[in-house]
Amino acid sequence: MPSPSWLLLGAALALFVGQRLIASIIWNRKYKLPPRVPGIPFFGNTFQIPPTQQGPWAKDLAEKYGEMFTCKFGSQTWVFLNSSRVVNDLMERRSAIYSSRPEWPMTQDIISGGSRIVMMGYNDHWRKLRKIMHSILNSRQTEVYKPFQDTESRHLLWDYLHNPDKWYTANGRFANSVIMSVVFGRRSQLGEPATEKLFETIEDFLSNVQPGANLVDGYPVLAKLPTFLQWWRPRGLRLFHKTRKVYADEVRNINQKLADGKQRDCFAVQFLEQCEKEPDINETQRLFVLGSLMEAGSDTSKVSVSQIIAAACTYPDWVPKARAELDAVCGADPQRLPGFGDRAKLPYITAVVKEGFRWRPNIAEIGTPTTLIKDDEYEGYKFPAGTVFTWNAWAIALSPNEYVEPERFYPERFLNEDLNNPLKGHWSFGPGRRVCTGWHVGEANVFIAISRLLYCFDFEEVPGHPIDTLRIPQLAGGKAPFAVNIKVRSEKHAQLIERECSSVVDLQY
Ligand code: HEM
Repeated sequence: MPSPSWLLLGAALALFVGQRLIASIIWNRKYKLPPRVPGIPFFGNTFQIPPTQQGPWAKDLAEKYGEMFTCKFGSQTWVFLNSSRVVNDLMERRSAIYSSRPEWPMTQDIISGGSRIVMMGYNDHWRKLRKIMHSILNSRQTEVYKPFQDTESRHLLWDYLHNPDKWYTANGRFANSVIMSVVFGRRSQLGEPATEKLFETIEDFLSNVQPGANLVDGYPVLAKLPTFLQWWRPRGLRLFHKTRKVYADEVRNINQKLADGKQRDCFAVQFLEQCEKEPDINETQRLFVLGSLMEAGSDTSKVSVSQIIAAACTYPDWVPKARAELDAVCGADPQRLPGFGDRAKLPYITAVVKEGFRWRPNIAEIGTPTTLIKDDEYEGYKFPAGTVFTWNAWAIALSPNEYVEPERFYPERFLNEDLNNPLKGHWSFGPGRRVCTGWHVGEANVFIAISRLLYCFDFEEVPGHPIDTLRIPQLAGGKAPFAVNIKVRSEKHAQLIERECSSVVDLQY
């Protein structure tokens, strides 16, 4: 005969299981999700998703399950949207309820001090910061950026001519220096410690934000543990202080230059002055507004330019067409560099830039997750509030249902009536209300850099080191993610670079 305490325990267990069963019956009557990818109890698919480069994994699942499938990462339910049609229907058209973000107790609350805009929920604070970002990144601001993009892309050509082995760092310097010039009123130099540290913090952030990277991000309930039991916290705080210091050093520089009367007018000066009147934006939030701009504005353009270089090496048939267009405008016997003023005469280059964004979207291979804020129904499915949605970027970009010969780099696919709308025809800047706020700047960065690089240089694979374009890592620890042979097109092109670019190399502000 079991003792009364065993009976009590058995009854409690039966009650618990019964409750769970009833809850699950009610849940299943009320909600219906797309096909689930089988996982293991409690952890779901947490250990199946690769820690980085998740695109090929999620693409294979899309091929198996169709337009939508469901995964469980920790306690979160994720629905992957695998076609432009469903991304349009949900994340774009119903963006008013599909634009919040999941909780990230480690990556947002600790590592980012709750202040990285890209991970903020859809709330008033995000709206306020988004407005600030928009004020310096909107279409009317493009004229402000152009002189800096012109200068920095000249410097880029000079770097490629004199330091071809540092081409990847040069791409990073170019992108970073454009945004630094506008935001902080200063240029950045090749190999400069401040720039390297910034790129390091970007990698810290990106490697932590991946699903499965931090248990507590998958199970936010763990954040309710007493602080001393949160084993992840010390590491998170170390990363937070490291990141904050990188941003704070820039602000310290500004203050020093202001005191010395040497600071140029720039966004940071105006923003920090404005913040004095807005006490609800605290010190950390101010630093992360400035830091998010540096961060989001640097890595993305660097990676996008590099992808087009990989495409020139591996699918070179489009390069002569791009060259012919550039030569028709600037002379086969090089007279001058292409510039923004030539844009209307360079539709093929605009298509190259667009195809570069589509081709291998490795900035966000499985998109960026958003959270549904209220129950919703779609084509027989019923989604509960709190479900996480993402556009399956890799699967969509490489689907033959979306694009003819999707693996090929084929700019012609964008020579249509939407050519001059950089957001149409691919999802690389994201959908709906969370669409990248810096796309005007990013697109123009890639346009000016690529038109000038293609005009002046030849790119080829290094014998014995083929480029696996489906596996180019976004996080490469600061090293070039693939090998490339870079040669100036002719002696005359080299002279053009010396003539038109040397003067900007030592330019300092
Ligand atoms: C050049 C290529 C670029 C690409 C491919 C790119 C891509 C993206 C993507 C995929 C997102 C997430 C969108 C979503 O969640 O739906 C994003 C967000 C963002 N991007 Fe970009 N980006 C680029 C350039 C830039 C630049 C130059 C800046 C600023 C200087 C910038 C600033 C931002 C910001 C602030 C966000 C967060 C928006 C929010 O959550 O409200 N981006 N970007």
